[in-house]
Amino acid sequence: MAEQSPAAAAWSSGGSSSVRPRAAAYTIGYAMLPNKHDTFIQPSFIDLAAEHGIRLVAVDASRPLLEQGPFDLVVHKLYGQPWRAQLEAFSALHPDVPIIDPPAAIERILDRFTMLDVVSGLDSVAVPRQVIVHDAGALLQLAADDGDDADLGDLRFPLIAKPVEVDGSAASHNLCLVYRREGLRGLRAPLVLQEFVNHGGVLFKVYVVGDHATCVTRSSLPDVPQDRLQDLAADAAVPFANISLLAPTTAVGDESAKVPPPQEFVDKVARELRRAVGLHLINFDLIRTRDSQGDAKYLVLDINYCPGYSKMPGFEPVLTEFFLEMLRSRPVLERPAPGNGSAASAGLGVDEARKAEAEPTSVIPEPRQVQA
Ligand SMILES: Nc1ncnc2c1ncn2[C@@H]1O[C@H](COP(=O)(O)OP(=O)(O)O)[C@@H](O)[C@H]1O
Ligand SMILES: [Mg+2]
Repeated sequence: MAEQSPAAAAWSSGGSSSVRPRAAAYTIGYAMLPNKHDTFIQPSFIDLAAEHGIRLVAVDASRPLLEQGPFDLVVHKLYGQPWRAQLEAFSALHPDVPIIDPPAAIERILDRFTMLDVVSGLDSVAVPRQVIVHDAGALLQLAADDGDDADLGDLRFPLIAKPVEVDGSAASHNLCLVYRREGLRGLRAPLVLQEFVNHGGVLFKVYVVGDHATCVTRSSLPDVPQDRLQDLAADAAVPFANISLLAPTTAVGDESAKVPPPQEFVDKVARELRRAVGLHLINFDLIRTRDSQGDAKYLVLDINYCPGYSKMPGFEPVLTEFFLEMLRSRPVLERPAPGNGSAASAGLGVDEARKAEAEPTSVIPEPRQVQA
């Protein structure tokens, strides 16, 4: 378990005399589908945020954003043109209110191909080789028995087939492990075909909140032995929904595969990746493979926007600190008072409120590497 800072410990023990709930200095509007609320807007987070003067208010996306609030910051996980238009109208009128994160940057990682394309130039990590298959015709051609390997570029089986779009639907997570060409039949384009990289059956899920990164170890798909590719009696492709059909291999139980990467490395990758995608709230899937010399090589498989932070140990203080930082560093513009700003609505003058906000409130625990 991660250690806790005094403030975080105070929170987890139900509060203390040093950290008390106070009148909200800030209001954060959060816009996401109701079924995503639990992923971080949990009572434990609402309580800690309140102790630090932050009130969290659900945005009703079916109503104009401009009629809601006032907000000091908006955090959102909604997509599509109508919602973008809402945000643009809101920002035009409230340029000092941070929107976490920019819709264009979020949309880039809703496409599995562009998602990894963005990070393909990084120093510390690589991405699996992949091709995009745009339509059914192209897929048919690839699947044809006399298909020329050149169609697949440098890709070698096994491959993972992934729907291009990641829209939060269950279908967008229906993946398929394809052992040989024949297995491409029956897949549905558009999709991304990615080389499956053996990685000891262990995945590192890195949760990023601004400058903070927490690495959690999870189990992953087992390694695929070379002879499985030649076994013509076995299925040519296995959908991921049937993960139990993927027989565990020798790699399972290899303790060394579970050793997480050093925290400095995790921090470095998180920093580079976050800059490359231009987002504050992400998680990404990282795997470790070994080259012929036995040296570790890391690959990023997947990036998600505003993930389920409730699965990140100690997420409440980390998110609280992040939002406080974003709120304190936002541009200060004169706003008409009263009633058009949370400071005013909290009964504080703008200066008073800013002073209250400036109280030192470190809430982030160290260190940040956890085995799940
Ligand atoms: N190229 C790959 N090589 C090895 N394993 C992979 C690869 N791509 C995906 N996986 C495995 O499949 C899981 C799901 O794939 P991912 O791209 O993360 O899709 P999802 O959007 O459903 O999370 C990963 O967490 C990892 O265990
Ligand atoms: Mg994933």
